[in-house]
Amino acid sequence: MISLNVNGKKHRVDVAPETPLLWVLRDNLGITSVKYTCGEGECGNCTVLIDGRAERSCVTMVKSVQGSEIVTIEGLAEDHPVKLAWIEKQVPQCGYCQPGMMLQAVDVLSNNPTLSDGDIVQSMDDFICRCGSHPRIVPAMKLAAAMMKK
Ligand code: FES
Ligand code: FES
Repeated sequence: MISLNVNGKKHRVDVAPETPLLWVLRDNLGITSVKYTCGEGECGNCTVLIDGRAERSCVTMVKSVQGSEIVTIEGLAEDHPVKLAWIEKQVPQCGYCQPGMMLQAVDVLSNNPTLSDGDIVQSMDDFICRCGSHPRIVPAMKLAAAMMKK
């Protein structure tokens, strides 16, 4: 049995310790906002927060996160600045990549809310969006940063 803390709730799951966290979240806990795409840590669509850091759950063994606080997009408050800014700037198109993008933004802005445009672009550069939402992410992250400073 593996014990997990996801979005503030404790779970016990009967899975092999080497199972990728992605599959435990999706298949065992039903949290399908965590997306599978490459399965190799390349696209960012499976990103979750693990103890506040954005990590790719497809390449994270579930045994390594016992005792950690795991947060998916459902665990962010509805009035979190990143959620509000994403709505205000109408960032998503199909939405598939957005949970991972937003959790990366939370990590990045928590550590440095005074990023330049170039820093923001660089921080999101290895997240893949087939709809081309990146140009809207820069203003959304700037807005979220401004909200976080207040
Ligand atoms: S599915 Fe995990 S990084 Fe692509
Ligand atoms: S909004 Fe469609 S893949 Fe990013």
